[in-house]
Amino acid sequence: MENLKLDFQFGLEAGQMLEAVKSGQKPEKLSGLQSQVEEAFLTLTRESGKGHEFLGWLHLPGQLSEEALAPILEKAEDFRKKSQILVCIGIGGSYLGAKALVECMTPQLAQFIMGYPRVIFAGHQLCEDYYSELLAALNHYDYTVCVISKSGTTTEPAIAFRLVREHIEKKYGKEEARQRITVITDKEKGALKTLADQEGYTSFVVPDNVGGRYSVLTPVGLFPLALSGIDIRKLAQGAQSMQKLLCTEKLDWTSNIAAQYTLFRQYLYMQQGKKVELLTNFEPRLLYFGEWWKQLFGESEGKEGKGIFPSSANFTTDLHSLGQYIQEGERLFFETVLSMESQKTELVVPFEEADLDKMNFVAGKRVSYVNEKAEEGTCMAHSQQGSVPVLRIRIPHLDEYSLGQLIYFFEFACGLSGYTLEVNPFDQPGVEAYKKNMFKLLGKPGA
Ligand code: PA5
Repeated sequence: MENLKLDFQFGLEAGQMLEAVKSGQKPEKLSGLQSQVEEAFLTLTRESGKGHEFLGWLHLPGQLSEEALAPILEKAEDFRKKSQILVCIGIGGSYLGAKALVECMTPQLAQFIMGYPRVIFAGHQLCEDYYSELLAALNHYDYTVCVISKSGTTTEPAIAFRLVREHIEKKYGKEEARQRITVITDKEKGALKTLADQEGYTSFVVPDNVGGRYSVLTPVGLFPLALSGIDIRKLAQGAQSMQKLLCTEKLDWTSNIAAQYTLFRQYLYMQQGKKVELLTNFEPRLLYFGEWWKQLFGESEGKEGKGIFPSSANFTTDLHSLGQYIQEGERLFFETVLSMESQKTELVVPFEEADLDKMNFVAGKRVSYVNEKAEEGTCMAHSQQGSVPVLRIRIPHLDEYSLGQLIYFFEFACGLSGYTLEVNPFDQPGVEAYKKNMFKLLGKPGA
């Protein structure tokens, strides 16, 4: 199986330094920072830093044995048999991982071409019209529900679950509804756990030592993915191969692509003043992968007045909107391109005698070839004319194995980056501020 690869584009000085690091050298400009990353690596792998009680994700891929996956696959199969739609309720880390991978791995025009069951997400916002439409649609389909909340007390999924639970109990009766609801929550505490025990819902556990944004390889992500027909065994294999490569006893700069990535993003931030990282792609299925990545890095690094602001753009679409700013606006950012190296199908641009649109120069060429040239041309324009440093992560195939690798790669790099910045990458104290105000405004007792 092929691995992810990391490079810089177009002979920038940083590109030459990356090549030096990959060959085991220590470029002078980077030496101080390289030592900081080395220290962060030890803090992470020896589990001795701030938030070390949330490092369960570090060894998680290796624990995804056949026995561990079997109950998830079994329940998913049961739900697949009895539902046309799976309603998956959750927010933040209890939503984005599954959403990202479902978007990557299921047909893009699913509403027209896909068989059942389909995953519909809920509990990730508070839009009344969305829920009215959802409940109306659920009148016409057989469905099952998976509600995911580690704390079991988060407002958005709690409200969504109230609405859907009322609907499913009316539609199927309380007894049958019980067979159609699965809960993924804490092993012993929280409102959802209490409810699951009272009602006898099947439940899966979110491990105590894995925080929301690092939880996609727990039942939080694995159950909805298995339901969508995604091969979670292959996903686990990809993550396992990345764990072997990155989570080693000693840091090997020649092979540890997460350390290389951390070094260069922190170099660009700390020494070049690039405060924003723009994660881009030329593959529309990666749109939500960018959303997952933004939560991972935003919640992990953005604290104590520090942190690279994670942002994303989807090309070529956004070249027709954000492209102008990226090319000529304030030089705030560097760009990390998720570069997809293959497509699953082949399609060539048709030849037209009249050639009114003047596109015959690409007639007979694959659409993916045009896209590749768009990527190459964009990276050149951004890095050379636009002075935007462009890092590239090359992904051999958009499949479960590569996605498993990519998830663990970013999680590891995120832990490493947080420790390099000397923050706790595993807490998120700032997310409470809006909740306090909202609860006060809503008149919650004690708020
Ligand atoms: O990363 C996090 O911890 C958060 O984004 C949570 O995942 C999110 O707030 C949802 O929390 P819960 O699973 O407790 O409902």
